[in-house]
Amino acid sequence: MEERGKLLSHMNLKTFKYSYDLLSSDKIRTSFLKIMETFNIPKDIVRLDTNDLCNIECIFCSNKPQKCTPDHLMSFQKFKVLIDKIHKTTRMLYLSCSYEPLMTPNFGEYIAYAKSKGIPFISFATNALLLDKNNLIHQLVNHQINELIISFNGFNRADYNRIMFRSSYDKVIKNLQELKEYKEIRGSTFPKIRLNTILLKSNIVNFDKIVKFIVDYNIDTVQYRPLITRDTPEPAANREKMNTLEQPQNNPDEVNREKISNFSEEELEYILKDINSYSKKLSELGKRIIIPIDLLNKNKLTGRDKQPGSKTSCCIPFFCYWINYRGKVSVCCSDADSIIGNIFTDTMEKMKEKRNTFRKKALSGKCGMNCSTNIDSSTII
Ligand SMILES: C[S@@+](CC[C@H](N)C(=O)[O-])C[C@H]1O[C@@H](n2cnc3c(N)ncnc32)[C@H](O)[C@@H]1O
Ligand code: SF4
Ligand code: SF4
Repeated sequence: MEERGKLLSHMNLKTFKYSYDLLSSDKIRTSFLKIMETFNIPKDIVRLDTNDLCNIECIFCSNKPQKCTPDHLMSFQKFKVLIDKIHKTTRMLYLSCSYEPLMTPNFGEYIAYAKSKGIPFISFATNALLLDKNNLIHQLVNHQINELIISFNGFNRADYNRIMFRSSYDKVIKNLQELKEYKEIRGSTFPKIRLNTILLKSNIVNFDKIVKFIVDYNIDTVQYRPLITRDTPEPAANREKMNTLEQPQNNPDEVNREKISNFSEEELEYILKDINSYSKKLSELGKRIIIPIDLLNKNKLTGRDKQPGSKTSCCIPFFCYWINYRGKVSVCCSDADSIIGNIFTDTMEKMKEKRNTFRKKALSGKCGMNCSTNIDSSTII
């Protein structure tokens, strides 16, 4: 099984990215995805939460710290059942989606089990505050987990502790240092470290310091992601109830102050130039900065821009799955019809039937008006 994993892993992400980019439209992508499905080639990207908890409070996120109790967790037993059902078709497994994966006790066991099933690419996003618990740093390296995504907002102590409230800059830095040192001891480049950083005012200034940070902690990629606010609706999968329109948000004033729209066009242009020049230097060191090219178009940073009446088809339900900690499965996160069942209680046949019905809707373009889902190859790689 490990062998199958190794082989596919690395048929590889680059190949996956190039193919995705090469296939210029969702229609063509859909045709290829159908062919892959027919030949049982693993192609699915699964995003999966093992809890609905967090331990900190980021100014832009609706989650709040909560106590960890069994009713907020997917048990390890259930996780194994789930993985047994999906591993053959899964190419990329993200062991987090809307919550904090390290709130799941013994998360290392979950990772080890998924890895043992030969899933080609395994990654998860975390605030990294609990990375030092239960020998997790060693497990990530020893199991050669492909990627660790660290949500990191604020490249100095004051900004970080203000934006990622109740986290600790010093502790996260200590964890990053430990991870870097253990990778060096083991001579390992895995897990690759990607910082998920939200496009906030504080996060794109003083780029020389950001570059120093990237080099000091051996970060592989910094990916800037657009801030999602009430006026750019948050993907429904980021909320527990798919049908709710409620979009709670912390500290609106603080978030407003941090919006990059507070910069003038000239300031943004200058910042972008600065980032570009540093980005070139970093790429010589094998490091990447990914920033939305629409940065200057402040109102157009998220989503697939589907307008009412649109007939544009979408390939997302042909390879993406979102599964919550109770087993609820959906194939996109912007349309309530995309919920196809429960992985623990429904048969795969029943779920496939519902999935196919939704796929037809996606092909006709009649899905998710105001859709805010945005998956491109730079997001998945
Ligand atoms: C909801 S978190 C869950 C995983 C984990 N707790 C973490 O922070 O990495 C997943 C990602 O969503 C991002 N996120 C949360 N609220 C957001 C918002 N309002 N706009 C854009 N990204 C947001 C976070 O920065 C994080 O990278
Ligand atoms: S972004 Fe992640 S760490 Fe921050 S509050 Fe939301 S779930 Fe928690
Ligand atoms: S609603 Fe779902 S299927 Fe439709 S365009 Fe958005 S992501 Fe694609």
